[in-house]
Amino acid sequence: MNVVNRLAAAISLSMLVPMAAHSADSKGTVEVVHWWTSGGEAKSVAVLKQIVEKDGYTWQDSAVAGGGGAAAMTVLKTRAISGNPPSAAQIKGPDIQEWGKLDLLTNIDKVAIANHWDSLLPKTVSDIMKYDGHYVAVPVNIHRINWLWINPEVFKKAGIAKAPTTLDELYAAGDKLKAAGFVPIAHGGQPWQDTTVFEDLVLSVMGAEGFKKAFVDLDEKTLTSQKMTDVFVALRKLQTYMDPDGAGQDWNLEAAKVISGKAGMQIMGDWAKSEWTVAGKNAGTDYECVPFPGSAGIYTYTIDSLVMFKLASSKDTPANNAARDDLAKVALEPEFQYVFNQNKGSIPVIKGLDMSKFDSCAQASAKDFAEAEKAGTLEPSMAFNMSTSLAVQGAVFDVVTNFLSDKSADPAKAGNRLYSAMKSAMQ
Ligand code: GAL
Repeated sequence: MNVVNRLAAAISLSMLVPMAAHSADSKGTVEVVHWWTSGGEAKSVAVLKQIVEKDGYTWQDSAVAGGGGAAAMTVLKTRAISGNPPSAAQIKGPDIQEWGKLDLLTNIDKVAIANHWDSLLPKTVSDIMKYDGHYVAVPVNIHRINWLWINPEVFKKAGIAKAPTTLDELYAAGDKLKAAGFVPIAHGGQPWQDTTVFEDLVLSVMGAEGFKKAFVDLDEKTLTSQKMTDVFVALRKLQTYMDPDGAGQDWNLEAAKVISGKAGMQIMGDWAKSEWTVAGKNAGTDYECVPFPGSAGIYTYTIDSLVMFKLASSKDTPANNAARDDLAKVALEPEFQYVFNQNKGSIPVIKGLDMSKFDSCAQASAKDFAEAEKAGTLEPSMAFNMSTSLAVQGAVFDVVTNFLSDKSADPAKAGNRLYSAMKSAMQ
């Protein structure tokens, strides 16, 4: 080796040594993009942070506020385009495949195999977590969407004897609550919240089969049918019971109105329970959870999952990869599944956990999930990214929200609008 080469070798060695020493004594960092910022949800995600930190890794929290996650997705796209993705991000359903196609995700088969994910997870769930046959994501929970949350004390004051089970009973309860001076339905006028109500109405009016034809098969006949007109008529009617101060409101602020006794009900997925829990309220006594009227026996679900990204070369170190693998591993361990899901309002995603530790709403959810699976009435939620691409979902959001804001819009024309908006989003 001549002098120049020896010098070059020495320089590169001296540059390597501090890096090697650094990675040996500092365990890696895992950066997570998510939208769990309400009181109850922040408390839930903190459980994951604590476990990862207990294992010695650094948790970099990149929360982007905004229920339903649209704002988080915008941030994520910008970061991915500029070559600076986080280690993990909350992404769901068919969207995982879209990110996979862009070659931005990383394979975590090693963790999945070592921890037996294929036998731990229901196959419907593990299939969603894989791209091209390889695990790229870890699921954390199962949320049910078609719920109605009730403050029984408010119901009592308004003279309502029992929770509504049909749309007519829901309207009757709304009338009584209004007459007694309560807000009947706490509802934040944001596109994803509007679409939650719309999706529930599709279940009540069209059943599981109609829901599937509309939002999984995107079937023209169903989307433009008389029944779809009936759905929009029902939506207009429900609008008359919605919080008059709800324009643009966050879901958790609306949940707070039911908790404090200002409003009687909220139509929301079971993360709503996280707000009741954090307020120290108990299921079955302080609040009731019932299937959205007319949708008993059907279960619409969303599965929160953390998708793993290929890191930019400056961050792609063994230490950071180990931190990411630790996150993936602990997310499916019973310790995390119990505590996280109790806080979050969801049910565990791994098979065979003892549900006796959970409250009555979670127990009902687990039982209804199993029954709906058997009966063929388990449906992926459209409003929560499980049944269509985000583009098609966005088209539905627009049509539903425009319908609600334009009081003169004709329900009979809304189905056609819906179909053409969805169709152009498919192209
Ligand atoms: C959903 C998500 C839930 C909850 C909700 C409200 O998309 O699955 O975990 O965060 O948004 O923001």
